[in-house]
Order: sequence, then structure tokens, then C-alpha cells
Amino acid sequence: MKLLVTGGAGFIGSNFVLSTVAQRPEVEVTVLDALTYAGNRASLNSIADRIDFVHGDIADRPLVDRLVGESDLVVHFAAESHNDNSLNDPWPFVHTNVIGTTTLLQAVRDHDVRYHHISTDEVYGDLELDDPARFTESTPYNPSSPYSSTKASSDLLVRAWARSFGVRATISNCSNNYGPFQHVEKFIPRQITNLLSGKRPKLYGAGQNVRDWIHVDDHNHAVWTIIEKGVLGETYLIGADGEKNNREVLEEILKETGNPSDAFDFVTDRPGHDLRYAIDSTKLRTELGWTPQYVDFRSGLKATIDWYRENEQWWRPQKDATESSYALTESVVS
Ligand code: NAD
Ligand code: TYD
Repeated sequence: MKLLVTGGAGFIGSNFVLSTVAQRPEVEVTVLDALTYAGNRASLNSIADRIDFVHGDIADRPLVDRLVGESDLVVHFAAESHNDNSLNDPWPFVHTNVIGTTTLLQAVRDHDVRYHHISTDEVYGDLELDDPARFTESTPYNPSSPYSSTKASSDLLVRAWARSFGVRATISNCSNNYGPFQHVEKFIPRQITNLLSGKRPKLYGAGQNVRDWIHVDDHNHAVWTIIEKGVLGETYLIGADGEKNNREVLEEILKETGNPSDAFDFVTDRPGHDLRYAIDSTKLRTELGWTPQYVDFRSGLKATIDWYRENEQWWRPQKDATESSYALTESVVS
């Protein structure tokens, strides 16, 4: 089987490629990645001779047409993925998440290639902190940021191409991922690498916002389950019952790294900051039989901290630029 993975040099895509090469030797993998600030070819170093790597843009129509035409399956991870960046400059989000996805959809339509679309629970907006509800596949779309609204747009494009043109597509919307190879701009790696660099962690607002954490390997295992057993045209929510507020997560990181529980700064809140995400993954579990393996968040987090301790050469080159960029908009409030 010939598999085209877009965004395979990013966080989730690289973990997907690494596990696919390790566990499915029959799959021939081609990665298409533009190597933006978020892409890192070094994430694929250990398997570089077992995949084809194409450096290019998913909005490049002739390139995408050729690569999709040579494939049996496309798994689309490539995106501009960071909310804070989308608030500062939305244009790359429209280019990649909307135009790029449309380019892929036209190519899978023209070549009748099976397509799996990776998306986020953020398309549903947010929930109140004290609301017992969780997102399901029938929750109405209500995105808050340029990131989540361009991801919502991409999901709707996939649904339209499936219905109007018969594209053989499935969609998954997953909650917040953690694990190795995540860019230092994101919450968990930012705080770990701040502590490893002698800097204080930064908590937005009062730290009460809730995210539903899932290990990246559980996400990717769910993606393969949907590719193999999912019903065409359907959407599946992926989540591992990992709700925690940001302060709880940070306190766990501080404890694990031997720091006092108050050794962090509160900083200005993110504009429009979504309060809470929570996933009900009953459909995926009951209809397709998926279950998460990383049920103990603390041990998954400890392994992730150890990975950043042991792989400083991977994250160090991005750290200063990331913190300089945060410093332009962020100020300590206590
Ligand atoms: P990431 O930012 O780490 O990686 C994105 C990758 O896409 C990078 O390698 C980048 O170079 C590449 N890319 C960006 N623009 C491109 C373009 N125009 N053409 C080709 N490649 C391009 O992102 P991630 O966290 O790995 O997220 C991957 C996918 O999973 C995204 O679609 C995201 O919306 C979704 N998702 C992420 C999370 C999460 O917690 N990180 C949760 C749910 C869903
Ligand atoms: P993030 O990793 O950016 O993911 P998302 O916005 O997609 O949920 O942020 C996770 C949570 O952590 C979110 O509530 C914002 C918060 N946050 C901080 O408190 N401090 C930080 O330095 C960052 C980057 C995020």
C-alpha cells in the first residue's frame, strides 16, 4: 500500500510515520511537508532511509496531483496548528488549512484515492467549566479562533467533497495531544523546556482552562483504526478521558522536575481563550473497538519530560525564537 502523509515532519504526523514504519512494513510511506517553523526533518532521522520525503506545499496543485495520483491512501495532518500564532497572523492558517485542504480534496477526487482527514475538537468551540456535557459527533460547530475556524472550514470542505463528489473520506476530531517531538510553542513542551532552561513556566489567565489530554500514540492508533474499520463519510471523535486544568498539569510538571508548586508566572490571558474541551469517544470505542493504552497521564507525562531531557539537541534550536516571539505579546501579571 502506498501512503501519502502530509505534515509528516510535524508533531503528530512524525509520530504517525514512525509508528507506521515500525508496525506496518508493507506500507510504503511518502511524506509531503513544507518544513515550516513547525516542521523538523530530524524527527524522522531514525527512519530516513525507509521513507520518501518530499519538501513541498500542500497548496501546490501540480505537485499534490502527482503525489496523490501515485498513492492508495492520503492521511492529512499538515496544518498551521497554533492558536496563539493564528491570533497574530491568520493568513498562513487560511492558506494551509483551507486552500491546502481544498487542493488535496481536488486531487483525491480526481484520482479516487481514500482520504483520512485529521482535525481537532476545537471546531466545536468550548464548554463551561461546570457543564457535565462533552463534545459528541453531533455537537454543532462553533469555533473561536482563526486556527479552529480554519480547521472547521477544512472539515466542512471534506464533508462537501464526500457528499457531492463521492470522495472516500473519513474525519477524526481529537483532543489535545502530548508526547515526544511536540514543538516548544505548545503548553506542555513549553513549560518543560522553560524549566530545563532555567526559565519560569507561564500560565495564561488563572490556569483554570481545561484540556482533555491524550497521548499522541493513542491518537495515531485511533487513526489507523478509523482507516481500517471506519465507515466512509463518517466523523469520529478521539479522546481518552484526560480532562485536567492547566494549573494541575503545570503542578505535575513542577513536581516531576523537582520544583516548588508555585515556581511559575501568571501571564496575560489569550484573547478568546476557550474554557474547556471534553470528548465523548463512545462512537469510536463501541463501533470500531478502539481503546486508549496510555490511561495513566502521570506516567505518560513523566516519559514525555524524560524525552525532552534526553533530546535537547532536537528542541534547543527553536527555543529562543519561540520565547522571543511570546515576549512580544505576553506580560507577567503576578
Ligand atoms: P504541527 O504544527 O506540529 O505540524 C504541522 C506540520 O505541517 C509541520 O511539519 C509543517 O511543516 C507542516 N505544514 C504546515 N503547512 C504546510 C503546508 N502548506 N504544506 C505542507 N506541510 C505543511 O502540528 P500537529 O500538532 O502535529 O498537528 C497535526 C494535525 O493534527 C493538525 O491538522 C492539527 O489541527 C491536528 N490536531 C492537533 C492536535 C494537537 O494537540 N496538537 C489535536 C487535535 C488535532
Ligand atoms: P496549547 O498547547 O496552545 O493548545 P490549545 O490552545 O490548542 O488547547 O495550550 C493548551 C492550554 O494551555 C490552553 O488553555 C492555553 C494554555 N497555555 C498556557 O497557559 N501557557 C502557555 O504558555 C501556553 C502555550 C498555553
